[in-house]
Amino acid sequence: MDDPADLTTVLADVRRGMIPAHVYNDEEIFRLEAQRIFARSWVFLAHESEIPAPGDYVVRRILDDSFIVVRDEHGAVHALFNMCLHRGMQVCRAELGNASHFRCPYHGWSYRNDGRLVGLPFHREAYGGDAGFRRSDQRLLPAPALDTYNGLVFASLDPDAPPLREFLGDFVFYLDYYTRQSPSGIELRGPQRWRIKANWKIGAENFAGDMYHTPHTHTSVVEIGLFREPKAEKRKDGCTYWAGSGGGTTYKLPPGDLRERLRYVGYPDVMIDKMLREWSPAQRAVIGEDGFMVSAASVFPNLSFVHNWPKVGESDDVLPFISLRQWQPVGPDETEVLSWFAVDKEAPEEFKALSYKAYLMCFGSSGMFEQDDVENWVSLTSTAAGTMARRLLLNSRMGLLADDEPVVAPLEWSGAGTAYVGYGEYNQRALLARWADCLETPVRTPSAVGFGTGS
Ligand code: FES
Ligand code: FE
Repeated sequence: MDDPADLTTVLADVRRGMIPAHVYNDEEIFRLEAQRIFARSWVFLAHESEIPAPGDYVVRRILDDSFIVVRDEHGAVHALFNMCLHRGMQVCRAELGNASHFRCPYHGWSYRNDGRLVGLPFHREAYGGDAGFRRSDQRLLPAPALDTYNGLVFASLDPDAPPLREFLGDFVFYLDYYTRQSPSGIELRGPQRWRIKANWKIGAENFAGDMYHTPHTHTSVVEIGLFREPKAEKRKDGCTYWAGSGGGTTYKLPPGDLRERLRYVGYPDVMIDKMLREWSPAQRAVIGEDGFMVSAASVFPNLSFVHNWPKVGESDDVLPFISLRQWQPVGPDETEVLSWFAVDKEAPEEFKALSYKAYLMCFGSSGMFEQDDVENWVSLTSTAAGTMARRLLLNSRMGLLADDEPVVAPLEWSGAGTAYVGYGEYNQRALLARWADCLETPVRTPSAVGFGTGS
C-alpha cells in the first residue's frame, strides 16, 4: 500500500462494489483508517445518561486515544484526553466512577473534573513556583471537537471537523426512533465489552444493511420459536435506507394504523402516546402509513443500533428492545465490541425489565444473534489475511444491474434519504464509499501544544 497507485486501485474497486478481500485484514489499510477515518470522523463516546450527576465519568477510547468523559460541577460534559501534562501517565485508570478531581498516579499532579490543573506537589521547590511552571490555566487537553445529539456524546479528533449535526445529516430522522421515544430520551445499561478476532468494518456493514444474512445465519434462532412468526424469511419485504452518515434496515409490518403497528411490536399504550407526540408527521408516517419498522442501523464509522421484538415468555407476546453497539478497532484483525441496552427513560419499570431480558437473549456477549454473527466475521477476517485474498474481489453489488442501475426503483415513502425494498447491498456500498472518500484524503495534523512555560 506504500505505492499510492495500489490505494487508488483499491478505492476504485470498492466504489464499483467489488471489495478487495484483504481490506478486512491489512496492516497498511488499518494504519490509514486510523489516520484518515478515526482521526477525522465524529466518533461516539458515551451517552449523557451514563454520567447523570456532577463528577460522574466514564473512560472511553477513539482507537488508542483515551478520554475521560466527565460531567463537571456545573453540569457541563467534557472529554479530556487522559494523558498527564507532566510525563504522560494515564491520569484516570478506572473505567467509570465519580470524582471531583483526578490525581495522576505517577507524581501526583491533580486535575479538577473540568480538566484544570489544580495540584502540583512541590511546585515552589521543584519549579520555582510560577516562574518555572505557570500552574494556572493549565488543563488536560480537551477533545478537539465535542457535541451531543439526543444525549449521544460524540467527539472528533479533527479541530476542523464539520458540526456534528451536519456530519450526521438526515440520519437524525432515524436516530429519533432509537433515542427519542419521549422527551426524556434513553437511558443505557452497560456496556458489556468483549473482543472478537474480526475486522471492525464487518459489523458496521452488517448492521447497516445486511438483511440477506438473516434467513441463513440466524435460522436456529427462528427455529426455536423466539419470534412470533418466521420473521427471518420476511426480511426481503423490508427496505433498507441510507440518509446522511448512516443507514439501516426495516421490517415490513402487517396492516394496521400507527398505534396498532406499535402495539404489534410490543410497545404499551403509555409509551406509544409519547412516541406519537415526540415524532414528526413524516417519522410517524414511516410506521403508520408506509408500514416499516426500523431494525438494525449503522452510523459511519463504527456506531450501530438494533431494534427487535422477540418473545420473552411462553405466550406469543413480544417485547421490543434497543441496543447501541460500537465496533472499536483494536487492530486489523481484532475489534472490541461495546454493547449497551437502551430503553426510554419514561418507560414503565416492568417494560424496562422485560425489554432488558429480550436484549440479553438476542444480543450482548451471550446473545444468540451475536454468537451466530461473530462466527462468520472471525472466519472472514482470518481468511482475508492470506495471499489469495489479495487476488480476490468480493462481490458487494447485490441490488445493482450490470449497468449500475438498481434492480428495483427507489422506494417512494415518508422516510429521509434513499430506500429500496428487498435484498440489496446498497448500504454496505454507501458505507464503504464514505470509507473510500476518507481514505483518499489526507488529514491536516494540528501542531502540538504544550503548557506551563514560565513566560
Ligand atoms: Fe503525571 Fe508526573 S506523569 S504527575
Ligand atoms: Fe445478524
